Amino acid sequence: MQLSDAHVLVTGASRGIGAEVAREAARRGARLTLVARSAAPLEALAAQTGGRALPADLGDRDTRRGLIARAQAEQGPVDVLVNVASLDAAGSFLTLSADDLEELLTVNLTAGAELTRQVLPDMVARGEGHVVVFSSGFSTVVAPGLAAYCASKGGLSQLAGVLRTELKGSGVGLTLVEPGPVRTGMYADIQAEPLSGAALRRLVRLRLTREVEPQEVARATCDQIEAGGPHVVVPRRNTPFMLFTWAPRWMSEVVLTGLARR
Ligand SMILES: NC(=O)c1ccc[n+]([C@@H]2O[C@H](COP(=O)([O-])OP(=O)(O)OC[C@H]3O[C@@H](n4cnc5c(N)ncnc54)[C@H](OP(=O)(O)O)[C@@H]3O)[C@@H](O)[C@H]2O)c1
Repeated sequence: MQLSDAHVLVTGASRGIGAEVAREAARRGARLTLVARSAAPLEALAAQTGGRALPADLGDRDTRRGLIARAQAEQGPVDVLVNVASLDAAGSFLTLSADDLEELLTVNLTAGAELTRQVLPDMVARGEGHVVVFSSGFSTVVAPGLAAYCASKGGLSQLAGVLRTELKGSGVGLTLVEPGPVRTGMYADIQAEPLSGAALRRLVRLRLTREVEPQEVARATCDQIEAGGPHVVVPRRNTPFMLFTWAPRWMSEVVLTGLARR
C-alpha cells in the first residue's frame, strides 16, 4: 500500500514511536488522523503534518465505539491503520492494582483488536488496505517486572499471526512490528523500575539486543507498509529470539493455509 495520498490513522501519535511513524508517513505523502489522549501534542503534530487530531482515550469503551467511522467521516476511508498506543505498568505483578491491570490489557490488547475489527470489513470490501500491529520483543522474552505488558504483547503477536491467515487473498496487508528497546518515554519508565530495568540491562550487556531510535522503527514500519511486508524486527540482533517463537506460527500458517502470502 503506497502511503502517498493514503488516509493513515495512527494511534499513540502524541509522542514516541507513534509520533515518528506519523511524521514519516506524512513525509511520504499520507493524510493523517492522529489519535491519543493528549490533545495539545496531537494538535501540534497535526499542524506540522497537515493531518487531523482526534483526541480519544482508547481505554474507554464508549470512546472506542465508532472511532473509525468518526475518522472516515472527516477524511474518507482509512487506508492504513497503525495501532501503536500502549501502556507499560512496569513493576512486580504482585503489586499491580486491579484497575491498572484492566487498563493495560484494555489499551494494549482490546483497543488495537477492536479498531482493527472496525476497519477491516470496509478494507476487505474494497480489496485494499493495510493494518499495522505494534507488539514488542517482549511478546517472546519473559521479562521480570513486565508480566501484564508481556501478556498483552504475546496476545497481539498471536492476533496478528491469525489475522494474516484470515486476510490471505483479500488484498489487505498486515504488518506485525516487534521492536527491541527504543529510546522513548516508555523505555525510560521500564529502565527506571528495578525489576524490568535489571532485565533490560542484562539483555543489552549480553548483546542479545541494542537500543534503537524511534525514527529507525518508524522508517522500517513505513517501508514494510509500502512493500506489503509481514514483519518488522528491529534491531536485527533480536531476530534469533523471535525466530524461536515464529517458527511454529509460520509452520502452522503454511500447513493450514498454504504458501501464498497475500
Ligand atoms: N519503547 C520501547 O522500548 C518499545 C519496545 C518495543 C515495543 N514498543 C511498543 O511501541 C509502541 C510505542 O511505544 P513508545 O515507546 O512510543 O511509547 P510511549 O512513548 O509511552 O507512547 C505511548 C503512546 O500511547 C498513547 N496512549 C497511552 N494510553 C492511551 C490511551 N488510553 N488512549 C489513547 N492513547 C494512549 C500515548 O498517548 P497519551 O498519553 O497522550 O494518550 C502515547 O502516544 C507501543 O505499542 C510499545 O508497546 C516500545
